Amino acid sequence: MIDKIAVIGAGIMGRGIALVYALHGYRVALHDINPEAMNQAKALINADLMLLVNEGMVSHADQQTALTNITPTDNLKEAVGNASFITEAAPEKLSLKWQILSQIEAHAPTTAIIASNTSTLPLAELNKHLARPERMLITHFFNPAHLVPLVEIIRIVSTPDKTIKTILNLLRRIGKIPIVLKKEVPGFIANRLQAAILREALHLVATDVASQQDIDLAVTAGPGFRWSFIGPLETADFGGLDTWQSVMNNLAPELDCTPTVPAVLKEMNHQGHLGVKTGQGFYTYPNKQIIADKIHQRDLEFIRLLRLRRKEGFQPDS
Ligand SMILES: NC(=O)c1ccc[n+]([C@@H]2O[C@H](COP(=O)([O-])OP(=O)(O)OC[C@H]3O[C@@H](n4cnc5c(N)ncnc54)[C@H](O)[C@@H]3O)[C@@H](O)[C@H]2O)c1
Repeated sequence: MIDKIAVIGAGIMGRGIALVYALHGYRVALHDINPEAMNQAKALINADLMLLVNEGMVSHADQQTALTNITPTDNLKEAVGNASFITEAAPEKLSLKWQILSQIEAHAPTTAIIASNTSTLPLAELNKHLARPERMLITHFFNPAHLVPLVEIIRIVSTPDKTIKTILNLLRRIGKIPIVLKKEVPGFIANRLQAAILREALHLVATDVASQQDIDLAVTAGPGFRWSFIGPLETADFGGLDTWQSVMNNLAPELDCTPTVPAVLKEMNHQGHLGVKTGQGFYTYPNKQIIADKIHQRDLEFIRLLRLRRKEGFQPDS
């Protein structure tokens, strides 16, 4: 049974993962080596909770419980010492993750299940130096982790089915929608689909088919509007697979399938335009307040969508 949880790394993902577990009654030790990151995490967890309270998703009592449930610590041994489940959410560097995972294994109870939130590192590489690699799996959350329902689970052949069942139950208890991959592929499922769409969107930018605003609108007001409730395969069923065969016959040769980083993306990076990090990407972000406002507005829309999905039965109540 999972009772105490440890989250290692209090950055973008770790703080959201810690928050969602704490909101659902779990005691969470949140560990980071960087005091500044920890302070920022605390402030952002407070702000995320305020928004949930203001939107009527969380009561004042639950807000207080969530805050009490999170124990920040700069000591990894203390964080994992009595945890039954540990999620590593440190930067995406294999050697760093190896080092952290070895420390976790050295100090956590032998029965504890260990997860990584990696987006791209293969599980068979990550678990390589563990004495018991079968105790580790990947639980891949999406940003913002306390709001996006999907969690992808990646296992190895020797992962006990009991472990998968325990983690599925845990994730469902915190209101998530977990899926277990039958086999591991680079990028898992969701990021492969996102990358395929981004590659085509970048191709449309490069060939000047429409403005970037209109390319984004073509997704948010079109397929994206449908996708929260009906996925691409079911959409194809409703469109007719004979129609889709014709569409693919005409379109497949036209779609971008360059097996390298798209030139537009390389050029943006070359010019130092990294998006909100530098204030310039496909759009301009003149100051930090504008970025904070956009994140606030995005989270507000996500909360409203989450509420609607729950009302319509697309999402378990949590
Ligand atoms: N950002 C995303 O949208 C996203 C989405 C899904 C998965 N992921 C994955 O989640 C993981 C974390 O990504 P992130 O975006 O939260 O990164 P981040 O850089 O925002 O946060 C990482 C945190 O780990 C801390 N850290 C560094 N070394 C540490 C150590 N030795 N011990 C403890 N803490 C340490 C850093 O101080 C930082 O606060 C990565 O594996 C990433 O690929 C990220």
